[in-house]
Amino acid sequence: MSSNVLVVDFGAQYAQLIARRVREAHVYSEIVQSGITADEVKAKNPAAIILSGGPKSVYEVPAPSLDPAIYELGIPILGICYGAQLMAQQLGGNVARTGNGEYGRTPLTRSGDSVLLDGQPLNSSCWMSHGDAIETAPEGFVVTASTPEAPVAVMENVARKLHAVQYHPEVMHSEHGQDLLEKFLHQVAGIAPTWTNSSIIEDQVAKIRAQVGSEKVLCALSGGVDSAVAAALVTKAVGQQLTCVFVDTGLMRKNEGEQIEETFMRQFGVDLIHVKAQDRFFDALAGVTDPERKRKIIGELFIREFEKVARDLAADGEGPRFLVQGTLYPDVIESGSGHAANIKSHHNVGGLPEDLSFELVEPLRALFKDEVRAVGEELGLPGEIVWRQPFPGPGLGVRIVGEVTRERAEILRNADHVVVDEIKKAGLYRELWQSFAVLPAVRTVGVMGDGRTYAYPIVIRAVTSDDAMTADWARLPYEVIESIANRLIREVEGVNRVALDVTSKPPGTIEWE
Ligand code: XMP
Repeated sequence: MSSNVLVVDFGAQYAQLIARRVREAHVYSEIVQSGITADEVKAKNPAAIILSGGPKSVYEVPAPSLDPAIYELGIPILGICYGAQLMAQQLGGNVARTGNGEYGRTPLTRSGDSVLLDGQPLNSSCWMSHGDAIETAPEGFVVTASTPEAPVAVMENVARKLHAVQYHPEVMHSEHGQDLLEKFLHQVAGIAPTWTNSSIIEDQVAKIRAQVGSEKVLCALSGGVDSAVAAALVTKAVGQQLTCVFVDTGLMRKNEGEQIEETFMRQFGVDLIHVKAQDRFFDALAGVTDPERKRKIIGELFIREFEKVARDLAADGEGPRFLVQGTLYPDVIESGSGHAANIKSHHNVGGLPEDLSFELVEPLRALFKDEVRAVGEELGLPGEIVWRQPFPGPGLGVRIVGEVTRERAEILRNADHVVVDEIKKAGLYRELWQSFAVLPAVRTVGVMGDGRTYAYPIVIRAVTSDDAMTADWARLPYEVIESIANRLIREVEGVNRVALDVTSKPPGTIEWE
Protein backbone atom coordinates (compact mmCIF):
# COMPACT_ATOMS: atom_id res chain seq x y z
CA MET A 1 0.00 0.00 0.00
CA SER A 2 1.13 3.52 -0.72
CA SER A 3 2.14 5.59 2.29
CA ASN A 4 2.27 8.95 0.61
CA VAL A 5 0.19 11.92 1.80
CA LEU A 6 -0.75 14.73 -0.56
CA VAL A 7 -1.04 18.19 0.98
CA VAL A 8 -3.21 20.29 -1.33
CA ASP A 9 -1.99 23.88 -1.19
CA PHE A 10 -4.70 26.53 -1.11
CA GLY A 11 -2.22 29.34 -0.94
CA ALA A 12 -1.55 29.45 2.76
CA GLN A 13 1.84 29.76 4.29
CA TYR A 14 0.77 26.72 6.25
CA ALA A 15 1.03 24.08 3.50
CA GLN A 16 4.77 23.59 4.04
CA LEU A 17 4.25 23.46 7.76
CA ILE A 18 1.55 20.80 7.38
CA ALA A 19 3.85 18.76 5.15
CA ARG A 20 6.58 18.98 7.78
CA ARG A 21 4.27 18.00 10.62
CA VAL A 22 3.13 14.97 8.64
CA ARG A 23 6.74 13.97 8.21
CA GLU A 24 7.34 14.45 11.93
CA ALA A 25 4.69 11.76 12.30
CA HIS A 26 7.04 9.64 10.13
CA VAL A 27 4.84 9.72 7.06
CA TYR A 28 6.06 10.99 3.70
CA SER A 29 4.16 14.02 2.38
CA GLU A 30 4.22 15.98 -0.81
CA ILE A 31 2.69 19.38 -1.64
CA VAL A 32 0.45 19.62 -4.71
CA GLN A 33 -1.41 22.56 -6.25
CA SER A 34 -5.15 22.98 -5.69
CA GLY A 35 -5.91 22.54 -9.39
CA ILE A 36 -5.00 18.84 -9.19
CA THR A 37 -7.67 16.60 -10.78
CA ALA A 38 -9.12 13.37 -9.43
CA ASP A 39 -7.29 11.44 -12.16
CA GLU A 40 -3.98 13.02 -11.22
CA VAL A 41 -4.62 12.18 -7.59
CA LYS A 42 -5.42 8.60 -8.55
CA ALA A 43 -2.19 8.34 -10.49
CA LYS A 44 -0.25 9.37 -7.39
CA ASN A 45 -2.12 6.77 -5.36
CA PRO A 46 -1.88 8.59 -2.00
CA ALA A 47 -2.82 6.97 1.28
CA ALA A 48 -4.44 10.21 2.46
CA ILE A 49 -5.05 13.80 1.43
CA ILE A 50 -4.89 16.97 3.52
CA LEU A 51 -6.49 20.20 2.31
CA SER A 52 -4.55 23.19 3.63
CA GLY A 53 -5.83 26.52 4.82
CA GLY A 54 -5.76 29.54 2.55
CA PRO A 55 -6.20 33.31 2.61
CA LYS A 56 -9.39 33.36 0.51
CA SER A 57 -13.04 33.08 1.48
CA VAL A 58 -15.10 30.33 -0.14
CA TYR A 59 -17.38 33.18 -1.30
CA GLU A 60 -14.74 34.98 -3.28
CA VAL A 61 -14.88 34.70 -7.03
CA PRO A 62 -12.81 32.95 -8.09
CA ALA A 63 -12.14 31.08 -4.87
CA PRO A 64 -9.73 28.17 -5.22
CA SER A 65 -11.71 24.96 -5.35
CA LEU A 66 -11.11 21.22 -5.40
CA ASP A 67 -12.15 18.77 -8.09
CA PRO A 68 -15.26 17.33 -6.32
CA ALA A 69 -14.58 13.89 -7.79
CA ILE A 70 -11.64 13.66 -5.35
CA TYR A 71 -14.11 13.19 -2.48
CA GLU A 72 -15.45 10.11 -4.26
CA LEU A 73 -12.11 8.29 -4.54
CA GLY A 74 -12.44 6.64 -1.15
CA ILE A 75 -9.15 8.21 0.01
CA PRO A 76 -9.21 9.57 3.60
CA ILE A 77 -9.28 13.37 3.54
CA LEU A 78 -8.61 15.93 6.27
CA GLY A 79 -9.66 19.51 5.57
CA ILE A 80 -7.96 22.25 7.58
CA CYS A 81 -9.33 25.82 7.92
CA TYR A 82 -10.15 26.91 4.36
CA GLY A 83 -9.90 23.25 3.37
CA ALA A 84 -12.50 22.41 6.02
CA GLN A 85 -14.88 25.11 4.81
CA LEU A 86 -14.43 24.04 1.22
CA MET A 87 -15.19 20.44 2.11
CA ALA A 88 -18.31 21.54 4.01
CA GLN A 89 -19.51 23.69 1.16
CA GLN A 90 -18.78 21.22 -1.63
CA LEU A 91 -20.52 18.37 0.17
CA GLY A 92 -23.72 20.31 0.87
CA GLY A 93 -23.10 21.99 4.24
CA ASN A 94 -23.31 25.68 4.87
CA VAL A 95 -20.51 28.20 5.34
CA ALA A 96 -21.45 31.65 6.56
CA ARG A 97 -19.78 34.99 6.93
CA THR A 98 -20.57 35.39 10.59
CA GLY A 99 -18.90 38.73 10.99
CA ASN A 100 -17.16 37.43 14.08
CA GLY A 101 -13.89 35.87 13.13
CA GLU A 102 -11.50 34.22 15.54
CA TYR A 103 -7.79 34.87 15.44
CA GLY A 104 -5.22 33.30 17.70
CA ARG A 105 -5.67 31.19 20.77
CA THR A 106 -9.29 30.06 21.13
CA PRO A 107 -10.99 27.67 23.59
CA LEU A 108 -12.16 24.42 22.01
CA THR A 109 -14.96 22.31 23.49
CA ARG A 110 -15.59 18.72 22.54
CA SER A 111 -19.10 17.39 22.10
CA GLY A 112 -19.26 13.64 22.07
CA ASP A 113 -17.03 10.95 20.64
CA SER A 114 -14.53 11.77 17.97
CA VAL A 115 -11.96 9.72 16.14
CA LEU A 116 -9.61 12.67 15.72
CA LEU A 117 -10.00 14.01 19.26
CA ASP A 118 -9.87 10.64 20.96
CA GLY A 119 -7.91 10.89 24.18
CA GLN A 120 -8.03 14.70 24.29
CA PRO A 121 -9.66 16.58 27.20
CA LEU A 122 -13.15 18.07 26.89
CA ASN A 123 -11.71 21.56 26.97
CA SER A 124 -8.46 22.63 25.34
CA SER A 125 -7.21 25.50 23.26
CA CYS A 126 -6.60 25.72 19.56
CA TRP A 127 -5.16 28.27 17.12
CA MET A 128 -7.75 29.91 14.90
CA SER A 129 -7.55 32.22 11.92
CA HIS A 130 -10.90 32.53 10.21
CA GLY A 131 -13.53 35.06 9.18
CA ASP A 132 -16.11 32.66 7.74
CA ALA A 133 -17.34 29.65 9.69
CA ILE A 134 -19.06 26.36 8.90
CA GLU A 135 -22.63 26.78 10.20
CA THR A 136 -24.06 23.41 9.33
CA ALA A 137 -22.14 20.27 8.53
CA PRO A 138 -23.01 18.33 5.37
CA GLU A 139 -25.34 15.37 5.66
CA GLY A 140 -23.66 12.29 7.05
CA PHE A 141 -21.20 14.33 9.15
CA VAL A 142 -21.14 14.49 12.93
CA VAL A 143 -19.94 17.65 14.67
CA THR A 144 -17.53 16.77 17.46
CA ALA A 145 -16.18 20.11 18.73
CA SER A 146 -16.92 23.81 18.64
CA THR A 147 -15.48 27.16 19.66
CA PRO A 148 -17.35 30.37 20.58
CA GLU A 149 -17.55 31.55 16.96
CA ALA A 150 -17.24 28.24 15.13
CA PRO A 151 -20.21 25.95 15.78
CA VAL A 152 -18.50 23.34 13.63
CA ALA A 153 -14.86 23.37 14.70
CA VAL A 154 -14.36 19.64 14.08
CA MET A 155 -16.58 17.36 12.00
CA GLU A 156 -16.29 13.85 10.68
CA ASN A 157 -17.91 11.33 8.40
CA VAL A 158 -16.34 8.15 9.65
CA ALA A 159 -17.85 5.90 6.98
CA ARG A 160 -16.40 8.00 4.17
CA LYS A 161 -13.19 8.81 6.09
CA LEU A 162 -13.76 12.53 5.58
CA HIS A 163 -12.68 14.81 8.43
CA ALA A 164 -12.36 18.55 8.86
CA VAL A 165 -11.04 21.00 11.44
CA GLN A 166 -11.58 24.73 11.41
CA TYR A 167 -8.45 25.45 13.45
CA HIS A 168 -4.79 24.87 12.63
CA PRO A 169 -3.56 21.63 14.19
CA GLU A 170 -0.19 22.11 12.48
CA VAL A 171 0.81 25.15 14.55
CA MET A 172 2.34 24.46 17.89
CA HIS A 173 -0.06 26.81 19.68
CA SER A 174 -2.85 24.30 19.05
CA GLU A 175 -2.72 22.04 22.08
CA HIS A 176 -2.91 18.42 20.92
CA GLY A 177 -2.64 19.54 17.29
CA GLN A 178 0.03 16.99 16.43
CA ASP A 179 -2.05 14.30 18.19
CA LEU A 180 -4.93 15.10 15.90
CA LEU A 181 -2.77 14.87 12.79
CA GLU A 182 -1.33 11.57 13.97
CA LYS A 183 -4.79 10.15 14.69
CA PHE A 184 -5.78 11.03 11.16
CA LEU A 185 -2.66 9.57 9.59
CA HIS A 186 -2.18 6.43 11.62
CA GLN A 187 -5.73 5.52 12.63
CA VAL A 188 -8.12 6.98 10.08
CA ALA A 189 -5.82 6.41 7.11
CA GLY A 190 -3.98 3.45 8.64
CA ILE A 191 -0.55 4.66 7.50
CA ALA A 192 2.37 3.09 9.34
CA PRO A 193 5.07 5.49 10.64
CA THR A 194 7.83 4.27 8.37
CA TRP A 195 9.34 7.54 7.10
CA THR A 196 12.42 7.71 9.31
CA ASN A 197 15.98 8.89 8.87
CA SER A 198 17.16 5.39 8.21
CA SER A 199 14.43 4.76 5.65
CA ILE A 200 15.28 8.05 3.93
CA ILE A 201 18.92 7.02 3.80
CA GLU A 202 18.14 3.53 2.51
CA ASP A 203 15.82 4.90 -0.18
CA GLN A 204 18.29 7.51 -1.35
CA VAL A 205 21.22 5.13 -1.37
CA ALA A 206 19.24 2.76 -3.58
CA LYS A 207 18.17 5.61 -5.88
CA ILE A 208 21.69 6.98 -6.22
CA ARG A 209 23.04 3.52 -7.06
CA ALA A 210 20.33 3.02 -9.65
CA GLN A 211 20.96 6.43 -11.19
CA VAL A 212 24.74 6.44 -11.45
CA GLY A 213 25.51 2.74 -11.94
CA SER A 214 29.26 2.39 -12.07
CA GLU A 215 29.95 5.90 -13.41
CA LYS A 216 31.97 8.56 -11.64
CA VAL A 217 30.37 11.36 -9.63
CA LEU A 218 31.61 14.84 -8.78
CA CYS A 219 30.53 16.98 -5.83
CA ALA A 220 31.44 20.53 -4.87
CA LEU A 221 31.67 20.92 -1.10
CA SER A 222 31.03 24.42 0.14
CA GLY A 223 31.31 23.90 3.88
CA GLY A 224 27.54 24.27 4.16
CA VAL A 225 25.11 21.71 5.52
CA ASP A 226 23.38 20.76 2.29
CA SER A 227 26.40 19.94 0.17
CA ALA A 228 27.95 18.03 3.07
CA VAL A 229 24.90 15.86 3.66
CA ALA A 230 24.42 15.28 -0.07
CA ALA A 231 28.05 14.23 -0.35
CA ALA A 232 27.77 11.95 2.68
CA LEU A 233 24.75 10.21 1.14
CA VAL A 234 26.53 9.72 -2.16
CA THR A 235 29.55 8.42 -0.26
CA LYS A 236 27.41 5.82 1.43
CA ALA A 237 25.92 4.82 -1.92
CA VAL A 238 28.92 4.82 -4.25
CA GLY A 239 31.85 6.05 -2.18
CA GLN A 240 34.58 4.77 -4.48
CA GLN A 241 33.10 6.55 -7.49
CA LEU A 242 32.86 9.95 -5.82
CA THR A 243 35.31 12.81 -6.06
CA CYS A 244 34.67 15.87 -3.91
CA VAL A 245 36.05 19.28 -4.73
CA PHE A 246 36.55 21.99 -2.16
CA VAL A 247 37.62 25.33 -3.59
CA ASP A 248 39.20 27.45 -0.89
CA THR A 249 38.50 31.01 -1.98
CA GLY A 250 40.33 32.56 0.95
CA LEU A 251 36.92 33.80 2.07
CA MET A 252 35.87 30.78 4.13
CA ARG A 253 35.29 30.65 7.86
CA LYS A 254 38.11 29.73 10.23
CA ASN A 255 39.21 26.09 9.99
CA GLU A 256 36.59 25.32 7.38
CA GLY A 257 38.97 23.67 4.93
CA GLU A 258 40.64 21.59 7.64
CA GLN A 259 37.31 20.43 8.92
CA ILE A 260 36.15 19.34 5.51
CA GLU A 261 39.38 17.44 4.92
CA GLU A 262 39.15 15.85 8.33
CA THR A 263 35.57 14.72 7.82
CA PHE A 264 35.55 13.64 4.22
CA MET A 265 39.08 12.46 3.64
CA ARG A 266 40.01 10.93 6.96
CA GLN A 267 36.65 9.94 8.41
CA PHE A 268 34.79 8.97 5.24
CA GLY A 269 37.77 8.10 3.06
CA VAL A 270 36.49 10.18 0.16
CA ASP A 271 38.68 11.23 -2.72
CA LEU A 272 38.89 14.97 -2.01
CA ILE A 273 40.51 17.61 -4.16
CA HIS A 274 41.29 20.65 -2.04
CA VAL A 275 41.91 23.52 -4.43
CA LYS A 276 43.88 26.22 -2.66
CA ALA A 277 42.84 29.12 -4.81
CA GLN A 278 43.17 31.92 -2.27
CA ASP A 279 45.84 33.80 -4.19
CA ARG A 280 43.87 33.81 -7.41
CA PHE A 281 40.78 35.15 -5.63
CA PHE A 282 42.67 37.91 -3.82
CA ASP A 283 44.44 38.89 -7.03
CA ALA A 284 41.16 39.09 -8.91
CA LEU A 285 39.56 41.15 -6.14
CA ALA A 286 42.40 43.65 -5.75
CA GLY A 287 41.14 47.22 -5.93
CA VAL A 288 37.48 46.21 -6.39
CA THR A 289 34.98 47.83 -4.04
CA ASP A 290 31.64 47.60 -5.82
CA PRO A 291 29.55 44.87 -4.11
CA GLU A 292 27.99 43.49 -7.28
CA ARG A 293 31.33 43.33 -9.06
CA LYS A 294 32.86 41.54 -6.12
CA ARG A 295 30.07 38.96 -6.17
CA LYS A 296 30.47 38.47 -9.90
CA ILE A 297 34.22 38.05 -9.72
CA ILE A 298 33.97 35.52 -6.91
CA GLY A 299 31.19 33.58 -8.63
CA GLU A 300 32.91 33.42 -11.99
CA LEU A 301 36.27 32.52 -10.59
CA PHE A 302 34.72 29.78 -8.53
CA ILE A 303 33.21 28.25 -11.63
CA ARG A 304 36.48 28.53 -13.49
CA GLU A 305 38.35 26.74 -10.69
CA PHE A 306 35.72 24.06 -10.58
CA GLU A 307 35.74 23.58 -14.34
CA LYS A 308 39.49 23.18 -14.30
CA VAL A 309 39.19 20.29 -11.88
CA ALA A 310 36.42 18.72 -13.96
CA ARG A 311 38.48 19.07 -17.13
CA ASP A 312 41.59 17.60 -15.50
CA LEU A 313 39.54 14.65 -14.31
CA ALA A 314 38.11 14.20 -17.79
CA ALA A 315 41.54 14.34 -19.41
CA ASP A 316 41.89 10.56 -19.35
CA GLY A 317 38.52 10.23 -21.08
CA GLU A 318 36.74 8.90 -18.04
CA GLY A 319 35.66 12.00 -16.23
CA PRO A 320 32.62 12.13 -13.97
CA ARG A 321 29.27 12.25 -15.75
CA PHE A 322 27.24 13.09 -12.64
CA LEU A 323 27.25 16.16 -10.42
CA VAL A 324 25.78 16.23 -6.91
CA GLN A 325 23.57 19.20 -6.00
CA GLY A 326 22.19 19.91 -2.55
CA THR A 327 18.76 21.09 -3.78
CA LEU A 328 16.14 20.96 -1.02
CA TYR A 329 12.37 20.44 -1.17
CA PRO A 330 11.46 24.12 -0.50
CA ASP A 331 13.54 25.10 -3.57
CA VAL A 332 11.64 22.54 -5.59
CA ILE A 333 8.24 23.77 -4.40
CA GLU A 334 9.12 27.40 -4.92
CA SER A 335 10.49 27.07 -8.39
CA GLY A 336 8.06 24.62 -9.94
CA SER A 337 9.22 21.26 -11.16
CA GLY A 338 11.67 22.15 -13.95
CA HIS A 339 15.24 21.17 -13.13
CA ALA A 340 16.91 24.28 -14.47
CA ALA A 341 14.75 26.63 -12.42
CA ASN A 342 15.70 24.91 -9.21
CA ILE A 343 19.15 26.31 -9.08
CA LYS A 344 19.14 29.54 -7.14
CA SER A 345 20.12 32.41 -9.34
CA HIS A 346 22.32 35.16 -8.03
CA HIS A 347 23.25 33.19 -4.98
CA ASN A 348 24.79 30.36 -6.75
CA VAL A 349 28.43 30.25 -5.89
CA GLY A 350 29.21 26.59 -5.52
CA GLY A 351 26.71 25.94 -8.25
CA LEU A 352 26.68 24.39 -11.63
CA PRO A 353 28.92 25.54 -14.45
CA GLU A 354 26.26 25.70 -17.14
CA ASP A 355 28.23 24.55 -20.13
CA LEU A 356 29.58 21.45 -18.45
CA SER A 357 26.99 18.87 -19.28
CA PHE A 358 26.57 16.94 -16.09
CA GLU A 359 23.57 14.95 -15.12
CA LEU A 360 22.42 16.03 -11.67
CA VAL A 361 22.20 13.82 -8.61
CA GLU A 362 19.94 15.50 -6.07
CA PRO A 363 19.52 13.24 -3.07
CA LEU A 364 17.95 15.97 -0.89
CA ARG A 365 15.26 17.02 -3.35
CA ALA A 366 12.47 15.61 -1.22
CA LEU A 367 13.75 16.86 2.14
CA PHE A 368 13.18 19.84 4.40
CA LYS A 369 16.16 21.43 6.12
CA ASP A 370 15.45 19.82 9.48
CA GLU A 371 15.33 16.41 7.82
CA VAL A 372 18.63 17.12 6.07
CA ARG A 373 20.21 17.83 9.44
CA ALA A 374 18.78 14.69 11.01
CA VAL A 375 20.00 12.59 8.09
CA GLY A 376 23.42 14.23 8.33
CA GLU A 377 23.68 13.33 12.01
CA GLU A 378 22.62 9.77 11.30
CA LEU A 379 25.29 9.51 8.61
CA GLY A 380 27.89 10.49 11.17
CA LEU A 381 28.69 14.04 10.09
CA PRO A 382 30.03 16.15 12.95
CA GLY A 383 27.57 18.44 14.75
CA GLU A 384 29.68 21.42 13.75
CA ILE A 385 28.85 20.85 10.11
CA VAL A 386 25.28 19.62 10.54
CA TRP A 387 24.16 22.54 12.69
CA ARG A 388 26.03 25.25 10.86
CA GLN A 389 24.19 28.49 10.21
CA PRO A 390 23.74 29.48 6.55
CA PHE A 391 26.79 31.01 4.93
CA PRO A 392 26.66 32.96 1.67
CA GLY A 393 28.30 31.53 -1.43
CA PRO A 394 30.70 34.50 -1.81
CA GLY A 395 31.69 33.89 1.78
CA LEU A 396 33.35 36.59 3.84
CA GLY A 397 33.59 38.62 0.61
CA VAL A 398 30.12 40.10 1.18
CA ARG A 399 30.97 40.96 4.78
CA ILE A 400 34.13 42.87 3.99
CA VAL A 401 32.86 46.25 2.94
CA GLY A 402 35.20 47.85 0.42
CA GLU A 403 38.31 46.15 -0.89
CA VAL A 404 38.90 42.50 -0.09
CA THR A 405 42.53 41.89 0.78
CA ARG A 406 44.32 39.00 2.47
CA GLU A 407 44.85 41.08 5.59
CA ARG A 408 41.26 42.25 5.85
CA ALA A 409 39.96 38.73 5.20
CA GLU A 410 42.17 37.48 8.01
CA ILE A 411 40.89 40.15 10.42
CA LEU A 412 37.29 39.29 9.61
CA ARG A 413 37.87 35.52 9.79
CA ASN A 414 39.34 35.86 13.27
CA ALA A 415 36.59 38.24 14.36
CA ASP A 416 33.88 35.96 12.97
CA HIS A 417 35.36 33.06 14.89
CA VAL A 418 35.14 35.02 18.15
CA VAL A 419 31.52 36.06 17.54
CA VAL A 420 30.43 32.53 16.71
CA ASP A 421 32.40 31.04 19.58
CA GLU A 422 30.78 33.32 22.16
CA ILE A 423 27.31 32.82 20.67
CA LYS A 424 27.82 29.06 20.92
CA LYS A 425 29.06 29.33 24.49
CA ALA A 426 25.93 31.30 25.37
CA GLY A 427 23.83 28.47 23.88
CA LEU A 428 22.30 30.75 21.26
CA TYR A 429 23.83 29.39 18.06
CA ARG A 430 20.99 27.12 17.02
CA GLU A 431 18.18 29.54 17.76
CA LEU A 432 19.72 32.35 15.75
CA TRP A 433 19.32 32.23 11.99
CA GLN A 434 22.76 33.76 11.56
CA SER A 435 25.34 35.44 13.77
CA PHE A 436 28.57 36.79 12.38
CA ALA A 437 31.00 39.70 12.14
CA VAL A 438 31.14 42.42 9.50
CA LEU A 439 34.20 44.51 8.63
CA PRO A 440 33.37 48.06 7.52
CA ALA A 441 35.68 50.10 5.32
CA VAL A 442 36.52 52.74 7.90
CA ARG A 443 39.10 53.04 10.60
CA THR A 444 38.64 54.95 13.81
CA VAL A 445 40.86 56.27 16.57
CA GLY A 446 41.21 54.49 19.88
CA VAL A 447 43.54 54.19 22.79
CA MET A 448 45.04 50.94 24.04
CA GLY A 449 47.65 50.76 26.76
CA ASP A 450 49.57 53.98 26.39
CA GLY A 451 49.19 54.24 22.69
CA ARG A 452 46.83 55.68 20.17
CA THR A 453 45.35 53.19 17.75
CA TYR A 454 43.87 53.71 14.34
CA ALA A 455 42.14 50.49 13.39
CA TYR A 456 38.93 48.85 12.14
CA PRO A 457 35.65 48.47 13.98
CA ILE A 458 33.81 45.15 13.88
CA VAL A 459 30.05 45.11 13.59
CA ILE A 460 28.19 42.27 15.28
CA ARG A 461 25.30 41.05 13.12
CA ALA A 462 22.89 38.54 14.65
CA VAL A 463 19.39 37.88 13.31
CA THR A 464 16.41 35.67 13.90
CA SER A 465 14.46 34.48 10.90
CA ASP A 466 12.47 31.53 9.53
CA ASP A 467 13.42 31.73 5.90
CA ALA A 468 15.76 34.71 5.38
CA MET A 469 13.05 36.57 3.46
CA THR A 470 12.46 38.70 6.52
CA ALA A 471 14.58 38.89 9.64
CA ASP A 472 14.74 40.69 12.94
CA TRP A 473 17.89 41.74 14.75
CA ALA A 474 18.49 39.45 17.68
CA ARG A 475 18.14 40.89 21.16
CA LEU A 476 21.40 39.41 22.42
CA PRO A 477 21.93 39.61 26.18
CA TYR A 478 24.23 42.49 27.16
CA GLU A 479 26.63 40.06 28.83
CA VAL A 480 27.07 38.17 25.58
CA ILE A 481 27.66 41.38 23.65
CA GLU A 482 30.14 42.41 26.29
CA SER A 483 32.16 39.22 26.14
CA ILE A 484 32.19 39.29 22.36
CA ALA A 485 33.38 42.90 22.39
CA ASN A 486 36.09 42.25 24.98
CA ARG A 487 37.46 39.29 23.10
CA LEU A 488 37.36 41.05 19.73
CA ILE A 489 39.49 43.88 21.02
CA ARG A 490 41.82 41.63 22.97
CA GLU A 491 42.28 38.82 20.47
CA VAL A 492 41.85 40.22 17.01
CA GLU A 493 44.70 42.30 15.83
CA GLY A 494 43.58 45.26 13.75
CA VAL A 495 40.33 45.85 15.65
CA ASN A 496 39.81 48.61 18.21
CA ARG A 497 36.04 49.16 18.35
CA VAL A 498 32.84 47.09 18.30
CA ALA A 499 29.34 48.05 17.17
CA LEU A 500 26.03 46.21 17.02
CA ASP A 501 23.77 46.16 13.97
CA VAL A 502 20.14 46.74 15.03
CA THR A 503 18.59 46.73 11.56
CA SER A 504 15.82 44.30 10.65
CA LYS A 505 15.09 43.04 7.13
CA PRO A 506 13.52 44.94 5.54
CA PRO A 507 14.83 47.61 5.37
CA GLY A 508 18.30 46.06 5.74
CA THR A 509 19.48 42.82 4.19
CA ILE A 510 21.06 40.21 6.41
CA GLU A 511 24.45 40.45 4.72
CA TRP A 512 26.05 43.87 4.31
CA GLU A 513 26.70 43.53 0.59
P1 XMP B 1 20.34 38.87 2.40
O1 XMP B 1 21.66 39.46 2.68
O2 XMP B 1 19.88 39.06 0.97
O3 XMP B 1 20.55 37.30 2.55
O4 XMP B 1 19.28 39.26 3.38
C1 XMP B 1 19.52 36.36 2.67
C2 XMP B 1 20.15 35.01 2.94
O5 XMP B 1 20.89 34.57 1.81
C3 XMP B 1 22.25 34.40 2.13
N1 XMP B 1 23.02 34.90 1.01
C4 XMP B 1 23.60 34.12 0.10
N2 XMP B 1 23.65 32.78 0.00
N3 XMP B 1 24.98 32.99 -1.97
C5 XMP B 1 24.35 32.21 -1.04
O6 XMP B 1 24.42 30.99 -1.15
C6 XMP B 1 24.95 34.35 -1.92
O7 XMP B 1 25.51 35.02 -2.78
C7 XMP B 1 24.24 34.94 -0.84
N4 XMP B 1 23.99 36.22 -0.46
C8 XMP B 1 23.25 36.18 0.66
C9 XMP B 1 22.47 35.19 3.40
O8 XMP B 1 23.56 34.67 4.16
C10 XMP B 1 21.15 35.03 4.09
O9 XMP B 1 21.04 33.80 4.77
